Amino acid sequence: MRLLSPSLRTYTKEDHARVVEIENSSFGDPWPPSFFTYLHSKAPDLFLVAEDEGQIVGYIMGEIKEVMFSGLSHRSKMGHILNIAVDGASRERGVGSLLMGEIEEKFRRLGASHVTLEVRESNATARSFYLGRDYSEVGRVRAYYPDEDAVIMRKPLE
Ligand SMILES: CC(C)(COP(=O)(O)OP(=O)(O)OC[C@H]1O[C@@H](n2cnc3c(N)ncnc32)[C@H](O)[C@@H]1OP(=O)(O)O)[C@@H](O)C(=O)NCCC(=O)NCCS
Repeated sequence: MRLLSPSLRTYTKEDHARVVEIENSSFGDPWPPSFFTYLHSKAPDLFLVAEDEGQIVGYIMGEIKEVMFSGLSHRSKMGHILNIAVDGASRERGVGSLLMGEIEEKFRRLGASHVTLEVRESNATARSFYLGRDYSEVGRVRAYYPDEDAVIMRKPLE
């Protein structure tokens, strides 16, 4: 199947219905629609959509977290991926990789040293997708989801 070359841009409120549609068809426990509006208001530059021939085919959302290792002298910034989904008909055509590359570049420009994310233990597709993008599995959080543990994945940003 041909690779897609969508344009990537920041989310606007006109994209809300389509993003919610992709979310609902991608997850058994989708986020409530209001969550997208709320998170967009917190970090509008880190909510990206992929648009192919006028149609939104995927989105990614992130945030920057300040982490402190041992006092103020060891402050560090970490990019955190909150959500990513690609419309079923557009998967395995490079859209997810484009979205990941773009948000990682934004994190890098904002001074983040690493990217981190949580993924359901049973989500083999996403885990293999992240492993293929140089993420490592660095831990687990018990009962992170109501019915399942999360695997924590991390990637250093050069
Ligand atoms: C995970 C997801 C975002 C990947 O998006 P995508 O557009 O299909 O990803 P790409 O086409 O860029 O695929 C990139 C790589 O992942 C691999 N991959 C994609 N789907 C796969 C699958 N079903 N099984 C195994 N590997 C897969 C591809 O082989 C490709 O590897 P390559 O670049 O080495 O050839 C997409 O599957 C999705 O939306 N899933 C449902 C939502 C979800 O689970 N999100 C993650 C929440 S943590």
